[in-house]
Amino acid sequence: MNEIYVGQDLWEKYGFHTNPFDTNPLTAESSFLPIAEAMVGRGSDTKESQILTNFLRNRGGGRILIEGNIGVGKTTFINYHRYLWEHYSRDRLFTTNREISVTSRWQISQFLGNILASLLSKLLSQFKEEKILKNSIFKEVLAFSRVFYNYNYTIEASALGFGGGFGKSEQINVPNISESQLLEYFSLMVLEIKKLGYAGLFLHLDNLELLNREDLRRTHTFFEEIRDILQVTDVYFVFVAKRGFFREVISPLERVRSIFFGRPVVVNALTKEQVLDAVHRRYHLLSITKDKFIAPVEDSFIEYLHDLYGGRLRYIMDALNMLLPEIATKRAETISTEQAQKKLKNLVAEQTREHLTPLEWNLLLFCCQQENFTNGYLSNHFSLPTSNISRILNRLSDLDMIYLDQKEGKNIYYRVSEFAKPLKDWKDDVMGKNDTTISREIDSTNKTRQLQNSRKQRLNRIIRFIQERGEIQQKDCAEFLKISLATVSRDMKELIYLGNIVCREDGKQKYYRIKNP
Ligand SMILES: Nc1ncnc2c1ncn2[C@@H]1O[C@H](COP(=O)(O)OP(=O)(O)OP(=O)(O)O)[C@@H](O)[C@H]1O
Ligand SMILES: [Mg+2]
Repeated sequence: MNEIYVGQDLWEKYGFHTNPFDTNPLTAESSFLPIAEAMVGRGSDTKESQILTNFLRNRGGGRILIEGNIGVGKTTFINYHRYLWEHYSRDRLFTTNREISVTSRWQISQFLGNILASLLSKLLSQFKEEKILKNSIFKEVLAFSRVFYNYNYTIEASALGFGGGFGKSEQINVPNISESQLLEYFSLMVLEIKKLGYAGLFLHLDNLELLNREDLRRTHTFFEEIRDILQVTDVYFVFVAKRGFFREVISPLERVRSIFFGRPVVVNALTKEQVLDAVHRRYHLLSITKDKFIAPVEDSFIEYLHDLYGGRLRYIMDALNMLLPEIATKRAETISTEQAQKKLKNLVAEQTREHLTPLEWNLLLFCCQQENFTNGYLSNHFSLPTSNISRILNRLSDLDMIYLDQKEGKNIYYRVSEFAKPLKDWKDDVMGKNDTTISREIDSTNKTRQLQNSRKQRLNRIIRFIQERGEIQQKDCAEFLKISLATVSRDMKELIYLGNIVCREDGKQKYYRIKNP
């Protein structure tokens, strides 16, 4: 393995306080990248901002849906508006510290419990605890929120940010709270918060795709059930989901659709100029000595990534982060675009090829050249039966190298995933040899055999590690075995595919354990 240069002074060598390619959504709280200065392209002149602002200007509360593709900047967009309305509006809106992430296992009580706990967490971080405890409603909610947390692990860890508050000797009788009582508490809390000088509440409910993915019927029921909660006066519910959520989930529910504000607000990807502006702003804001820094990559590489990922900032930043251990040397310098492209491509190939047979690899490379593709199209091109292609497509999809994009009649269209996209121009490296020759060559080299052996050893080490720990997350495994998260992710999929382990999802978190015989 190449020697990787790491250390807490990594970014200092480039002249930065911290990583300029951090993938977290921008927030008002961030000390180095305050949202007002780091955010680009979502100002009041944009359509998305205008619609959202008009929605919030309606007195009395409401419900709106924000849609956009993965990683375009949806969460950051709403964080920005929460910040504006909390600090710079004549009619200030109270908001929680973080967005509330809705998961598929939630029932009404969890939904309300989470909202109440997040509101309290914010109140406690904003005002003195004594002030909060003087208010009987806040005090009661604080009491049961703690108990509620113990029984409902889906509550965000941020909800634990309560700073004590009750003396050990104090006896608090926590009633068994019904859904209607919870709703009553919610309404009362809204009134109490308004007494603190706010015109209403801005609730940011994010990651609705977590609901959608699992089961459409359950999601429909969830929305039917929370309909009454959504109508509490002076609360602005802003839901964030991926494209198509309104059409699939909200539109078919007449009673739910009627309480939503118009159509969803669509957040599109930023333009090339805006993405460059965003990166330059990060360089500027993070520079230790004002504007004295070494850019890790050339601007033209960012432009290349913009084209590759259709402007989706999360993937652009992810790719830069993936490259980082490869390009960071003891002496900080700007890597050329040509080198950066080559390294990115090689990295993806390294992590991909070892999981695939030559035919699967060959087919993937072909798919990388296509906008989208169907089984029939590949079957024609490779002169293989559709059943074989189907098996390969399943395999590539399990490994997140391709994904099902849309169904049109009998046709199922797939696309290459963002992860595999850098393989698009892989062929250039092998000077025009055709795909079949390449795959034969790959197959016959010792390198492939060595890779396969080292992969087997790694899979065995992962299994042993899970056996020892019982249940683990990918990051534990990456840390312990000192391998990249991307490799662990692929290995976990492989082990699930082979039937060695199973995965349990809890919200956005995934846990892995050995499959019972
Ligand atoms: N307008 C913007 N200006 C500058 N940086 C941005 C902007 N929007 C997003 N970013 C950055 O892009 C990355 C992705 O943003 P964000 O998490 O908001 O996207 P998202 O659409 O919510 O992603 P996901 O679909 O994964 O939830 C983050 O690193 C964020 O800081
Ligand atoms: Mg988001």
